[in-house]
Amino acid sequence: MKRSQVLLAAAAIGAVVLVVAISNLAPKPASAGLLKPDDVQVTALGRQVYATHCAACHGAKLEGQPDWRQRDAQGRLPAPPHDASGHTWHHPDDTLVRITKFGVAKAANLASYESSMPAYEGVLTDAEIVAALSWIKSQWPASIRVKHDELNRSSSQQR
Ligand code: HEC
Repeated sequence: MKRSQVLLAAAAIGAVVLVVAISNLAPKPASAGLLKPDDVQVTALGRQVYATHCAACHGAKLEGQPDWRQRDAQGRLPAPPHDASGHTWHHPDDTLVRITKFGVAKAANLASYESSMPAYEGVLTDAEIVAALSWIKSQWPASIRVKHDELNRSSSQQR
């Protein structure tokens, strides 16, 4: 091989390497929504927040309280599970944040609705609320996470 051919080959290889490097740098399509289930720092904080503030009612393993669909004598619902068997994943991110921050009645605009779900405004920061919910989402099976991502995308298009 001539020297010029060697240089040409080297340049061609360099160009390919550059293109591959650039395509790896290109931002991946951002998953819609506020929750960050793939951010290990966020989910590490969320795991602690959940254990301290949520697990007593929603269960250490997200299993919720027994007979969570049956209202009690006062007409209140028990804490539902946050795993795939519950309906937490049926709500988009911003609804989950609003329920946690303001409680069910305010989040659902039902002034007289009685609920045992506390409002965490003033107790937890927005970042801690997002972290707890991100950790919850990180525990869902991949198929549920994909459905929840789609739900977030369609609910943000409606706005
Ligand atoms: C004192 C018990 C209790 C604690 C502690 C608690 N919850 Fe709840 N949570 C409930 C109950 C009860 C409901 C069902 C409320 C209703 O529909 O009336 C609920 C509902 C929810 C919902 C709505 C779920 C759905 O499927 O609609 C979310 C989201 C939620 N809680 C998140 C949290 C988070 C996050 C924490 C911790 C920061 C937390 N909860 C702590 C009792 C609790």
